[in-house]
Amino acid sequence: MNNITKFEDITNSLISRRSLIKKGFAFGGLALMSSTLGSITAYSSQSFFNFTKVDCNNNDTITLPEQYNWSVVSKWGDPMWSDVEEFNQTSCGSHESQLKSVGDNNDGMELFITSDNKTLLAVNNEYTNHKIIFSNRKSLLPENKEDILKGMYAHGVSIFEIENSNNQWNLVKDSKYNRRITPFTKMEITGPAKGHSLMKTKEDKDGIYAKGTWNNCGSGKTPWGTYLTCEENFNKYFSSSDKNFKSTNELNRYGIRTREIGLNWAKADSRFDLSKEVNEPNKVGYVVEIDPLNPNSTPKKHTALGRFKHENAELVISKDGKIVVYMGDDERGEYLYKYVSNESINEVKDKSTLLSNGNLYVAKFNDNFTGEWLLLDTQTTGLSSKAEVCIFTRLAASKVGATTMDRPEWIASNPKKNEVCCCLTNNKNRGIKTNKGGDKVDVDKVNPRKNNKYGQIVRWKPRDNNHSSVYFEWDLFVVAGNPNVHDDNNRGSKNIDKENMFNSPDGLKFDKYGRLWIQTDGNYSNSGDFKGMGNNQMLIADTNTGKIKRFMVGPKECEVTGLTFAPDYKTVFVGIQHPGERLGGNFPDNGNNKPRSCIIAIQKKDGSQVLT
Ligand code: FEO
Ligand code: CA
Ligand code: CA
Ligand code: CA
Repeated sequence: MNNITKFEDITNSLISRRSLIKKGFAFGGLALMSSTLGSITAYSSQSFFNFTKVDCNNNDTITLPEQYNWSVVSKWGDPMWSDVEEFNQTSCGSHESQLKSVGDNNDGMELFITSDNKTLLAVNNEYTNHKIIFSNRKSLLPENKEDILKGMYAHGVSIFEIENSNNQWNLVKDSKYNRRITPFTKMEITGPAKGHSLMKTKEDKDGIYAKGTWNNCGSGKTPWGTYLTCEENFNKYFSSSDKNFKSTNELNRYGIRTREIGLNWAKADSRFDLSKEVNEPNKVGYVVEIDPLNPNSTPKKHTALGRFKHENAELVISKDGKIVVYMGDDERGEYLYKYVSNESINEVKDKSTLLSNGNLYVAKFNDNFTGEWLLLDTQTTGLSSKAEVCIFTRLAASKVGATTMDRPEWIASNPKKNEVCCCLTNNKNRGIKTNKGGDKVDVDKVNPRKNNKYGQIVRWKPRDNNHSSVYFEWDLFVVAGNPNVHDDNNRGSKNIDKENMFNSPDGLKFDKYGRLWIQTDGNYSNSGDFKGMGNNQMLIADTNTGKIKRFMVGPKECEVTGLTFAPDYKTVFVGIQHPGERLGGNFPDNGNNKPRSCIIAIQKKDGSQVLT
């Protein structure tokens, strides 16, 4: 049976719901009419889109509307202290220099202002491009312990001060705030899994500490001024020296394999060897809180927020003062989660305890555009303790009938409206193959295409405008597609045209005015299904009208990921990850230089706010 949902069905049902709203019907107990129309009045499309559209292209540079310029703020391998050598184009640095330099593959980032009025960036360093960082080795892989350590130190988080002089933002070497966090940094474990036997290792007999963080993808920021870094594809770094090591369901569900992929972390540190330390994987896959203002602080791994391939952590305060964290598990056919604190923000003195004591839920999207957050506890999942729910969250989620999703990437909550959006980036297995837990991935209304090549953005409205409610209403804000190539359901939803098309939405953030910034991590071949789409890009959307307009095109072979704003909104900082990853480009230094992931600052030429 062909059960692919036609776009027209989706769009028509959305239109009929909208017309109901216009006629004055509130649905599902939501007084949507007033909030939606109120936002339209307050934010005209003019203020959302006061720039010239950028066309798709394949250039090895940044393309912006003519009113804007850009400059590089920091690059992989930039020294953070003055006693470190500058990035060496031949060796790509040593383990010693990498430990004191900006990490590789910058991803999520947030900006902080210190009490002495300094500006800090905290930025994730997700992984390494081994063909580049080990380009000094014939194998293009680490060949000795120092090489392995160099690769390890390129992971984690970089926190550094930046300053603006003559409209040029630069990294401040030797700032007292500069800090590198690596796979070796000591961390405290909080929440239900703290002290559980599954967390105990030779180095941590009580199960209360973790060593380091790696594969840090998206970010988040708390209202109390700390940074959240999210551990994503943490599985790839483990292996087993004992070929007879017997894997488990739990290891399989998280994609933890016995075979070494070549980064050889287990050779530098035996805790990555499953046959020597089977519990080490249980200590990673969490959201980690870091206080960037206190460089000596111990980061906290918050197990209460669950263990999965975390994309980002979008934190909001609910109407009743609870901390709500929306989180995606970025793997084909995995789930979308939220955490709700037990206490409200005014009830506790140490705010970070709000992230260690609460409930975890997983989303169910019904085909009638309603939805429900399903509680994950021992009763609903059959797992024997709350600690196990937090450690084996994927297995818990499989028990309750949640909706398998098309790879949930970033989640963003609109500060101006009762609205949360999530990028579902793509899913070649939709309608074809179960997830690793054997859960069904049938085509449904929220994941409406078999073999989903282009992705979509789902949006939900918590009931009663309360993020801690277990009910919501949802729709698809946009379904990406290519109207150049397709006129069926792969052309995209009605708000996609030849002028604004894109594929694989990934990074997502609302600015303080309620504009939605969309960053892509898609196919940049510019051919076949992706003909005319060019390099990865960044667009701006008005969720009141559905309109989407392209603001930026990135350089060749990059992904655009990570976004934060200067407090005066005169600069937007954007992450350019893995430019030239297939060695087909060398942004940003060009010439014969190595391509390097970097953070750029975008400003308006007239010095006004980035969008006015
Ligand atoms: Fe690191 Fe799902 O992106
Ligand atoms: Ca991503
Ligand atoms: Ca992605
Ligand atoms: Ca990436």
